[in-house]
Amino acid sequence: MPFYMCECFFRANLFIKEHKIHVTFHGRDQFLREYRELLQEKGCSNPEEHVQELEEEVLRRQKLQEESWKRRQLVASKYTQLNPHIFSLQASFLDPKFQELVSFVQDAGHDSNALISQVQSHQSRIYSFPVFTHDFCHQLLQEVVNFEESPLPKGRPNTMNQYGINLGELGFDDFITTLREDYLSHLTRLLYPDWGGDALDSHKAFIVTYKEGMDVDLGYHYDNAEVTLNISLNEDYSDGDLYFGPLRTETSSCRLGYSHQLGRGLLHLGQQLHGALPITEGTRYNLIIWMRSSRVRNRLCPMCDQEPSLVPVKHGFGDGFTVQTVNVCSAS
Ligand SMILES: [Fe+2]
Ligand SMILES: [Zn+2]
Repeated sequence: MPFYMCECFFRANLFIKEHKIHVTFHGRDQFLREYRELLQEKGCSNPEEHVQELEEEVLRRQKLQEESWKRRQLVASKYTQLNPHIFSLQASFLDPKFQELVSFVQDAGHDSNALISQVQSHQSRIYSFPVFTHDFCHQLLQEVVNFEESPLPKGRPNTMNQYGINLGELGFDDFITTLREDYLSHLTRLLYPDWGGDALDSHKAFIVTYKEGMDVDLGYHYDNAEVTLNISLNEDYSDGDLYFGPLRTETSSCRLGYSHQLGRGLLHLGQQLHGALPITEGTRYNLIIWMRSSRVRNRLCPMCDQEPSLVPVKHGFGDGFTVQTVNVCSAS
């Protein structure tokens, strides 16, 4: 099935890290007219100086799909895998409790309440449970570090995180597809049927890295996903808790804190506002899987709140949009 981007990706939700704001950019004049005052309120003495960085970001986004595909091809032909056996998912990588959980919901008669009683519930529809064994986390991390240290080109994980890697480019798309279809979908169909949890048909998966001198924290945001799974891959760091607020369409000042645990996954709606507090020492690695439902996002793009303006991509999942075909009955 061909996938698409929404046109807004190229112009909207551009992140100015220094002032932690998202902006829309259609050129210098529009940008300064709309954001000069806000930037000055945020302590920016010269809003002009952000124009060039935004122009570069627009250009990067326009070339991103093609460049990412080229990197993927280059990695497939040139990268020497350290742990080749981890590139396709095996049940032994999964924490036995996670396997039990998936089997539990596959048994007829277990509904969402039964599932919720088996996982840890945090605030509104945020759940955590063990996903990977510690041994697998260690091997995946070894692979990630090995790749990071290789001279091969790497793409940024997403528009907010500067450091980390796109797991699709490293060759893990089939792994993540199996995890999504054979395991996670059984949980999400019960937990988030109203957000396409029963029809998650694509994903974007990446590793985010937090380290002093690089990214130490992450501003408050929502994800370009219907459902997100965030799995902790290591323990050698201090602080760096996540915090959660309401869905982006709701108003509430309630905030929940969450401390990572090795191998444990935190499952939440993409539109649940969240951020990451600064780490104070070490390096934190997390695997993030943004799961998307074309059924949901084809109606409304979560990034521009409009019906998506579709831009085709030649390869891969794009941002998870599709053209839905209508079955027309014919009489003959
Ligand atoms: Fe996020
Ligand atoms: Zn859009």
